[in-house]
Formats: sequence, structure tokens, C-alpha cells
Amino acid sequence: VRLTDTTTAGWWAAPDAGNATELLRRGKTIPYSWYVDPGLFELELDAIFGKTWQYVGHSSRLAETGDFITCMVGRIPVMVTRDAKGALHGYVNVCPHRGHPVAMGAGRRTTIQCMYHGWTFGLDGVLRSAPRSDREPDFSGDGICLRPVLVDRWGPLIFVNPDLDAAPFADTLGGIPDLAHERGFDFDGLPYRAHRDFEIACNWKLAMDNNTECYHCATIHPGFRSDYHVDRDNYEVLRFEQSFSHFSPPRAERDTWSDFHLYYIWPNFMLSARGNDHYYTYSYVPTGPEQTLQMTEYFVPATVSEAELESQIEDLRLLMAEDWGVFERVQVGMRSGMLPFGNLLAQEERLLRQFQQLYVDAIAGHVEAPA
Ligand code: FES
Ligand SMILES: [Fe+2]
Repeated sequence: VRLTDTTTAGWWAAPDAGNATELLRRGKTIPYSWYVDPGLFELELDAIFGKTWQYVGHSSRLAETGDFITCMVGRIPVMVTRDAKGALHGYVNVCPHRGHPVAMGAGRRTTIQCMYHGWTFGLDGVLRSAPRSDREPDFSGDGICLRPVLVDRWGPLIFVNPDLDAAPFADTLGGIPDLAHERGFDFDGLPYRAHRDFEIACNWKLAMDNNTECYHCATIHPGFRSDYHVDRDNYEVLRFEQSFSHFSPPRAERDTWSDFHLYYIWPNFMLSARGNDHYYTYSYVPTGPEQTLQMTEYFVPATVSEAELESQIEDLRLLMAEDWGVFERVQVGMRSGMLPFGNLLAQEERLLRQFQQLYVDAIAGHVEAPA
């Protein structure tokens, strides 16, 4: 089905960046069918998740030579390791022999050995040995190596990009590192403590839409709204081209508390902090058109006991569950096919519009133009 006017022609809208830009200009959202469409989901994995900076882990997990971590970046399995000179290397975690992951989980190795048939690579990604290949006159290992991905950081947070021609990560970060610094946020003293994965039955964009705005905080987050200002005059929003931030001071009754910080980085990463008390990272990994894996990491001072950490993780889970319930119910509404798109408040939801415009720009050129 191919429709040229998504505004009048029912719920189904084929991906058309021009029409979507026009919808956004008129204060509408992108079409709801785009939160359900399996074809568009596949396209996003290539056009967005195959070309943008994705969080993989904290550098403390790669402190020593040969330390490695693995992660999914959209549909791409990735590994990052540190060589003897201290340089970080990122690779597509797929063996050039027959496709098994060359590394699983996390750990420390002097070489990277694929468990399937034992092909072994240096930390530089170059094939060192392939068992029994010495008796194969036609086989040459020359030029066989792991496929690299770009690696960069924000402070201790390591990001990769599978697109070797991608612009530097600093372009995506924009003014975020300076802004966070000016506001007194500091990574130091906040070590990596825990990781949790949460499955949410919604499209990844729906989670990101929600995270752009605190319009819902007054209605959905009773605890948060009693601790922090969530009104427009006190809840500060700043945006850059591909990143933005939220900032809010605690309410007068909580004046000894730290400020709330939130930093968003296109397309699917967020960091939220309470001053320098702790910070959490969130990556929303698309696992299906209507399925998202939220990977959350917890950075909490070493002085906080394991029991206190667990209770902090549980408190955050309860807060996030307020959002997850919303996401899953909104997904049902979008899937109903009865409404073609949503209607935005231009000021209150301006970051949502920015996110959706970034999205439309990212898929433009990858989608079929309407006839
Ligand atoms: S797939 Fe890795 S050694 Fe065969
Ligand atoms: Fe929320």
C-alpha cells in the first residue's frame, strides 16, 4: 500500500519522509503505523542502528589488556577489547570463518578465539591461526580479520558505531559534556555496579518519545513530582542538534537533595543523574517492531552496600514501571489502526518533535518515494 497523503488516507502510512516532515510541521506526530510496521523496523536497524553511536559499556570493564565486553547494536553483535598498548578496538562479533560470535559475555583473553572451530585472532583483529589450515594448500589467512567498528567515548562511557564513515561522536554529543560539567555532574567516584535488562512490549520510538518530555511527570510519576519540580517554569530543557538535556531542582521540601539531570543522545541512549549521588544509563535496543529491550546500568558509589544498591535498583524499577505501563498501553492504541497519528503541544513537546524529525531525516533516502 502506498499513500501520498498520510493526513487523510486512514491509518496506514507507507514510509515517506516528506509527508512525515509535513505532519511534524503541522504539529502532528509521525504516523502510528510506523510503530508497528515490520518492514520499517528492518530498515531502521540498517539506516539508524547500523549508522549511529551506541553505548556498549563502562571503561572500567576494559581496564586491563585483553579485557572484552560484548553487546548487541541493533541487529549487529559487537565486541570491544583493549590491546596491550591500551587502545580500544571494536569489532563485529561474527567470526569470518562461519559466523559464530568470536567472544561471548565478558572476560579477559590474550587472543580472541572463536569457540566453534578455534580460529584465533589477535587483539588487533588479525587472524593468527586456523586449526589444520597448514594442510590446506589452497587456504590463505592473509587479509582475514575481524570487521572493525568505530569506538569513542563520553567520559568513561564507551560507544561504538558500525559505520566506519560516521561523523565523530562529538558531533552527536553536541554541548552535552560541557553542559553536564557546568552543572556539576561528574563521572568520577561513581563506579559501575550493576546491569539489568527489561523487556517492554512497545516500539523503541515510543519509549524515546516519552523520554523527551516531562509533560507526563505530573500525571504518571507521583513520587517524582513530589520530589522535583516538573512544571514548565522550573523544569529546564536544553537542546542541541542530536542531543538534549532536562534539568530540575528538588522541591523546597527536599532542598537537601541533589538536582535531577537527564541527558539524551540520539538515537536511543539516556543518562539520568541525581547530582553526583549516582547515575543510571538506559539504552533502548529494538528487538522487534513491537518489542524493546531496555538495558540499564547503575553507577553508584562504592560505599553503598549491595543491599542498598538492590533497594535502589528496585526503587528505579518501580519508577520505570510507571512509564512501561504507559508504553505498552499506547502501543495497543497505535496498533488499533483507528487513529493515523497524534497531536502535539508545540512548546511542551518540542523535544519529541525534534526526536521525530531526527528520525525522519535518518530514514529519508532509505525509503521508497511515493509514486
Ligand atoms: S565459525 Fe569461528 S572458527 Fe568456525
Ligand atoms: Fe516517565
